[in-house]
Amino acid sequence: MRLHHYMFFVSAVCLGNLVATAQAPAPTTLKDAFRNGFVIGAAINADQITGKDARGDAILVQQFNSITAENAMKWEIIHPRPNAYDFTLADKFVELGLKNHMFIVGHNLCWHSQTPDWVFKDRKGRPLTREALLQRLHDHIQTVVGRYKGKIDSWDVVNEALNEDGTLRQSPWMKIIGEDYVVKAFQFAHEADPNAQLNYNDYNLETPAKRKGAIALVKKLQAAGVPIAVVGNQGHLHLDSPSVADEETTITELAAAGVKVAITELDIDVLPRTWAQTADVSLNIHLDPKLNPYPNGLPDDVQQRLAKRYADFFAVCWRHRDVINRVTLWGVTDGDSWLNDWPVQGRTSYPLLFDRNDKPKPAFAAVLKTAAN
Ligand code: G3I
Repeated sequence: MRLHHYMFFVSAVCLGNLVATAQAPAPTTLKDAFRNGFVIGAAINADQITGKDARGDAILVQQFNSITAENAMKWEIIHPRPNAYDFTLADKFVELGLKNHMFIVGHNLCWHSQTPDWVFKDRKGRPLTREALLQRLHDHIQTVVGRYKGKIDSWDVVNEALNEDGTLRQSPWMKIIGEDYVVKAFQFAHEADPNAQLNYNDYNLETPAKRKGAIALVKKLQAAGVPIAVVGNQGHLHLDSPSVADEETTITELAAAGVKVAITELDIDVLPRTWAQTADVSLNIHLDPKLNPYPNGLPDDVQQRLAKRYADFFAVCWRHRDVINRVTLWGVTDGDSWLNDWPVQGRTSYPLLFDRNDKPKPAFAAVLKTAAN
């Protein structure tokens, strides 16, 4: 071997060793893979909160470093009757998060859905006045946020206040209080825990008109001096839509309004749809076998498409990790998902990263890789 060949050989070997020693092993969990970008959360149900679903909890603790209560903190559950709060599940949810050092998200304080009718009425069943409803909203937020002050890191203060055209939904909150109910809800939450991160949360913000409405809302809150920190774009996606470009534009336009962006309820539906893209919980469609094409398992080609779709979406989030502070999946395994029962009851749905047998799907491995790029 000539001298310069030998020198080249030695340098190559040394460099190879250096690279080998510098390379850390590839992360095998979601929370490690994205540690330098954002927290990775899961919405958890009653069985996971109480420990009844031990296998779901094992995945949760191993893979995720943030939790959201899928239902346990909604008004109808936590405050079912006037002056009667039920914190049984919510307390356990918070304990679970604290025990595992997780970023804890409270969902949600003010929503048109899952809020009992009594909230909007007086003792005689007549509609409340603006002042009385504001008082009720204040007391609810003060009680719930106050109880978990310093423990819950982030609150979805107002949920789904917008119509698809970007105008404010004519919910009972809006009809009785007027459009400043959003500002008031944020003020009450801030008063109850000045250090909590406060979010506005909605779906379909990839639709330009709705996104424009969300940005206008953010500006209104900022102008009122209200500390809105985050817009949650829920991320109830479909295999074919919205486009990655629209997802990226949504993140950058929301962030340009001076907030962080969280993906708060991510899932990717692979089942056929005969209705417009929405996450409106009131939609209910009759079960037709054509709408439930994979009752016995997902065909490999669809599984691969799902993996690619997930990887493309996480790649966008990773690219924008300077403004994305959290990505939360709306459930732990496919068996948990609301999409098994919405908007058609009794379908077999495949929208998450772990299957019905608690095994990671190809999408899981595909997602892990996106943080390396
Ligand atoms: O717990 C009861 C059970 O006791 C009863 O037997 C059964 C009969 O229907 O109902 C159970 O409650 C259901 C609950 O989920 C728990 O499974 C409710 O009927 C059902 O309406 C409720 O659906 C939830 C939905 O919000 C409405 O609150 C879904 O789990 C939850 O995933 C979904 O989450 C929403 C977000 O909060 C906001 N964004 C959209 C997202 C998806 O719809």
